[in-house]
Amino acid sequence: MVKVVVCGAAGGIGQPLSLLLKQSDLISHLALYDIVNAAGVAADLSHINTVSKVTGHVGKDSLAEALRGAHTVVIPAGVPRRPGMTRDDLFKVNAGIVRDLAQACAENCPKAFILVISNPVNSTVPIVCEVLKKANVFDPRRVFGVTTLDVVRSSTFVSQVKPQFEPHSNRVTVVGGHSGATIVPLLSQIKQLSFTPEEIKALTHRIQFGGDEVVKAKDGAGSATLSMAAAGARFTIALLEASVRGKRGIVESTYVHLAGNPGAEWNLRSTGLEYFAQDVELGPDGVANVLALPNLSAEEQSLVKTAIGELKGNIAKGINFIKEGS
Ligand code: NAI
Repeated sequence: MVKVVVCGAAGGIGQPLSLLLKQSDLISHLALYDIVNAAGVAADLSHINTVSKVTGHVGKDSLAEALRGAHTVVIPAGVPRRPGMTRDDLFKVNAGIVRDLAQACAENCPKAFILVISNPVNSTVPIVCEVLKKANVFDPRRVFGVTTLDVVRSSTFVSQVKPQFEPHSNRVTVVGGHSGATIVPLLSQIKQLSFTPEEIKALTHRIQFGGDEVVKAKDGAGSATLSMAAAGARFTIALLEASVRGKRGIVESTYVHLAGNPGAEWNLRSTGLEYFAQDVELGPDGVANVLALPNLSAEEQSLVKTAIGELKGNIAKGINFIKEGS
C-alpha cells in the first residue's frame, strides 16, 4: 500500500478524484494539497470508512510535507477552460503552476510517478520532464499525461452509435495528444465493428471536441470535472494495480516521453516527436512497453499527420518554457 498525493485537490476535478481514490485499498495515505480549502476536503473524506489515512496540506509551505514519501502524484492543479478558450490558452497560467509542482516533486519525491492532468497536457508534460531532467532525476517511465478522458469518451460515444459495443469493458485506442485535432481515436482497431465513412467522420469529430460540449453546457463554470475524475481515477488505479499489485497486461493510452521508454523506438521514428500518446503497457516501474502504432486506415494516417504538426509546436512551447523561461 502506498502514498498518493493529489495536487489541486480542492478543485472541480481534485475533489471527486480524491473521493474515488479514497475507495482504493491500494492506497494507505491520501495526501491532498491545494493553495486553498484542502484541509476541509481532507477532513470530509477522512470520515469515510476505507483503509487510507487522509491528510490536508494548504499553501506552498506545506507542499514538501505533502509530497514526501509519495509513490504517485496526480496533478489536476490550475485553471480550466471557459467558453471560447482552447486548452492552449491555459498555458500562461498553468505552465508556471505545473513547473513549480514538478520542481517540488524533484526535490521531495524524485522517484514518484507523476500523472499530469493540468492542461494543456501536450505542453505541461514536456514542462514536467524538462524540470526533472534539469534536476537529474528524470525517468521517462514515470511521467504520464492523462489522456484517459479521450478513451472514456470514445467508448461512450461509439456505444451510442453501435449499441452492441459495451462501453465499460471495451477500450478504444486514442493516440496523438490531448487537444482538438491532436486527439486521434483509432476506430479502425475496433475489429468487431464496421463503420460507414460518415460515422467515422462524425465520431472522430465528437471525440476530438467532446470537451467543448461540457464547456458549453457549463456555460462559464469550467470544463469536465466529474468525467475527468472518473478517467483520472481509472488511470491512477491502473498504474497502482500494475506497480503495486504487480498485475500484468494492463494497457492504457497515455501521453509519454518517447525517448528512453521501452518499446518506443518505432513511434519515435515514425512520428519524429519527443512526446506522443499511444497504448502503453503498465508495469512495476511505470511504462513497461510503449506499443507500436498499428496499421492505420488512410483517414487515420491523415489525422495523425495533422496531429504531429500541431504537437510539434505544443511540445516546443513546453520545452522552451523551461529552457528559455518563456
Ligand atoms: P478548478 O479551478 O476547479 O480547480 C483547480 C484547483 O487547482 C483549485 O482548487 C486551485 O486552488 C488549485 N490550484 C491553483 N494553483 C495551484 C497551485 N499552484 N498548487 C496547487 N493547487 C493549485 O479546475 P478543474 O476543473 O479542476 O481543472 C483543473 C485542470 O485540469 C485544468 O487545467 C483543466 O484544463 C484540466 N483538465 C484536464 C483534463 C484532461 O483530460 N487531462 C480534462 C478536464 C480538465
